[in-house]
Amino acid sequence: MKNPARSAGGATTLPGHYYTSETIFHEELERIFMNRWICAGNASQLRHPGSYFIFTIGKENVIVTLDENRSVRAFYNICRHRGTRICTDSNGQFHGKIQCPYHAWTYGLDGTLIGAPNMSSTASFDRSQYPLQKVYCHVWEGYVFLNFSDDPEPFESEYEPVLDRFSEWNISELRIAHTEIYDVKANWKILFQNYSECYHCPTVHPLLARLTQYRDTAIHLDEGPFLGGPMNVSGGESMTMDGRLCAMPIPNLPDEKQRKVYYFTLFPNVFLSPHPEYVLVHRLDPVAPDRTRIICEWLFHPEAMNRPDYEPSRAVDFWDLTNRQDWDLCERSQEGVSSRAYIPGPYCDLESMLAAFDREYLKLMDRELAIR
Ligand code: FES
Ligand SMILES: [Fe+2]
Repeated sequence: MKNPARSAGGATTLPGHYYTSETIFHEELERIFMNRWICAGNASQLRHPGSYFIFTIGKENVIVTLDENRSVRAFYNICRHRGTRICTDSNGQFHGKIQCPYHAWTYGLDGTLIGAPNMSSTASFDRSQYPLQKVYCHVWEGYVFLNFSDDPEPFESEYEPVLDRFSEWNISELRIAHTEIYDVKANWKILFQNYSECYHCPTVHPLLARLTQYRDTAIHLDEGPFLGGPMNVSGGESMTMDGRLCAMPIPNLPDEKQRKVYYFTLFPNVFLSPHPEYVLVHRLDPVAPDRTRIICEWLFHPEAMNRPDYEPSRAVDFWDLTNRQDWDLCERSQEGVSSRAYIPGPYCDLESMLAAFDREYLKLMDRELAIR
C-alpha cells in the first residue's frame, strides 16, 4: 500500500492528476481563468485608436483594441452574424472599424454594429442588438487585464493586496527592451511552484546563486492569490550576467529597494520581478495540461535607454539562461508527476509559498485534499 509522505506541517505536493488530467485542466480554465482578472499583454502594443492584439486562452479568442477615445476595449473575436472569427492576425491596426471578412458586417471600435449589408429587409432586424460581445478589461501597471465573467469583482478589489505595491517602479512608464517566448512542456502550476522557491537555486542556478543567497529572503505576502517578497542582492548590484547594474536604476527608487530583487506571483498567470534597474514580467498562457506558453518581457525606463551605460543584454542573457534552467527542471517534473509511481512528496520549509499557492488553488477549485 502506497503511503503519501507528509512533512511536519502536513503539506505535500499535489497528486499527479492535477498536472495531467484534461478534465481538471478544463475545470481550471472555467473556475479560475474565466473568473479572475488575467493578464493579456502589455498595453504599449496599443499605440493608436484601432491598434489591436489578439489574446487567446482555451477556446476563447479576444480582440484587445483602443477605441476612438483611447480607452482599451476587449471583444470576443466572433462575428454576431454567423459566429465567424473576425481577425486572424495576432496584432495589427483597424482603420476606424472592425469588419468581418465573410459578409462584411462592420463594427465600430466601441463594438457597435454599424453596417450589415442587405439586412434592412430582414424582418425585425435591429442593428443595435448585435454589438461585438465585450470582455471586461482594466489597465494596471501598463498591462491589460481581462475578466471573462459576466459580473466580475472590480479589479481594484481583487488586486487590493498589490494595487500600489509596485508604484515606485513606475511600470507603466517603462518600455519593453526585449521579449522572449518559451513553449514549455509542463503544467502551469509546476511553473508557479518553481518560481516560488529558491531551494533549487544552489543546484540549478550557479550564476544566480552567486548574486543572491537562497535563504536571504523575506516573504511579504504569504497567503492568498498574491505571494512573494524580496531577496537581497548580496553578491552584486543586480541580477545580470556580471552582477553589475546594466542600466541607470529606476528613477526615484528608494535606496533600500536598490539592492534587492522582488519576486511576486499574481495568481493565475503573472510573475512580476522588479529589479533595481529593470522589471521582468513573465506571463503564462496555459495551453494544455502539460504545455504552457510563457511570454517574458524585460522593461527599462526610457531615460535609461538613451544612456551609454544601457546594456540590457546583460539582464536578458541572465534571465534567459535562468529561465531555460528552470524550464528544463519543470519539464522533468512534469514527466515525473505523470508517472503512475509518483506519490505526493513533503514540502520543505523553504517551500512554504508553494503550499500557500496550492491552498489558494484548491480553494478556487473547491477541493480539499484528503492527504492534507
Ligand atoms: S459571419 Fe460575419 S458577416 Fe457573416
Ligand atoms: Fe529557478
